[in-house]
Amino acid sequence: MKSQQINSSAGLRGEITVPGDKSISHRSIMFASLAQGSSCIRGFLHGEDNLATLNAFRAMGVDIDVSLDAVIRIKGKGFFGLCEPTDILDCGNSGTTIRLLSGVLAGQKFFSVLSGDQYLRRRPMGRVIEPLMQMGAQIWGREQNRCAPFALQGSPLGGITYHSPVASAQVKSALLLAGLSASGTTTVYEPHVSRDHTERMLRYMGAEVQVFAGGVSVEGGQQLQGRDLEIPGDISSAAFFLVAALIVPNSELLIKNVGMNPTRSGIVDILCSMGANIRILNERHAGEEPVADLLVCSSELRGIEIGGDMVPRAIDELPVVSIAAACAQGTTTIRDAAELRVKETDRIAAMEAVLQTLGVEVETHADGMTIHGIERFNGGKVNSCGDHRIAMSAAVAGLRTSTVLEIEDTGCTAISFPAFWELLHQVAIPTGKN
Ligand code: S3P
Repeated sequence: MKSQQINSSAGLRGEITVPGDKSISHRSIMFASLAQGSSCIRGFLHGEDNLATLNAFRAMGVDIDVSLDAVIRIKGKGFFGLCEPTDILDCGNSGTTIRLLSGVLAGQKFFSVLSGDQYLRRRPMGRVIEPLMQMGAQIWGREQNRCAPFALQGSPLGGITYHSPVASAQVKSALLLAGLSASGTTTVYEPHVSRDHTERMLRYMGAEVQVFAGGVSVEGGQQLQGRDLEIPGDISSAAFFLVAALIVPNSELLIKNVGMNPTRSGIVDILCSMGANIRILNERHAGEEPVADLLVCSSELRGIEIGGDMVPRAIDELPVVSIAAACAQGTTTIRDAAELRVKETDRIAAMEAVLQTLGVEVETHADGMTIHGIERFNGGKVNSCGDHRIAMSAAVAGLRTSTVLEIEDTGCTAISFPAFWELLHQVAIPTGKN
């Protein structure tokens, strides 16, 4: 099992770009495969999660060409042009792959089985299986239809109106995709707005999607048209460098081409409320998605309260927010974030263990945590629990520890950010070399 040692840094300096957005990369492969005509995708994230999606569509007969110039060319097959896969579709560690695929597969004319790694097989799948079955899907899954592996016998679907108990873009997207192959209208309501990349990309590819207060709906029988897609840098990956530059004195870092979709940019709002010096420059669009460059400088942070609508806008960034909070003056409380318990690992428990090793006083709640900021972290040894975002959050903390921080099980960063360690070493000046 790989591990990494992180030493304290005297500052982060330079100009970087982060890899393509993971959520948008998944959707680009899926929607281009389901479209009529060809699509060229630029900026695709070649992380393990997205490759699971790419391999699944190849296994269903889609011609996907990954060229040396990193452009992906896909000849779409239309909504009903996929073939029955001859083996289980392995979604690896990727919740987005398994949940969105279940929405695609439920209405096909063939049989398929979805599974994944030990972490994915523990995650809740009832949240998509149950509403899909209400639409007429035939699904058989482990643990009374709550866990993967699960099998789908494609069948005709009918639209439903569904009130999702959780704000989840994966649930919403699975139902919208199923809705496109269903008869009638499919409407999804959610308690808070989740990321809207599906809605944006479906529209960009020619579908009609109605968005209204608290919900979204699609009519069945629509076709998507292949188009060229440009994927912005992932704000969830940028988040590690934002927090690193904020908490390490003498830092000034320019992060270029970051996706700034308002349903994802909660991390910038949270850090700015904590007193962060982040300048948003060069605002523009990549297709339907807003993009900007972010200039971040070391800042004195203060504790805040985080909850409500803000949580889905920053759900994947809350582990690294907990590191920022641990360096802030005063107390930070994160609430309404029970979803963290069912991510790649229980991220509340995993971050509690990391913070305790660092010497931070922390109380956990069923739906969040309270963190009391301190001046400097202790070094020691922490474990990622096989979760890419825990590994990278710990790495950020290691830039401010009094002695070396060893992080165990770090191979998982290849899931979303294959070049993370190289990029960190490139911009973080070691102490003593300033
Ligand atoms: C994602 C949605 C979020 C997020 C995940 C990616 C997506 O999950 O945490 O990393 O691409 O739709 P939920 O839909 O479970 O909130």
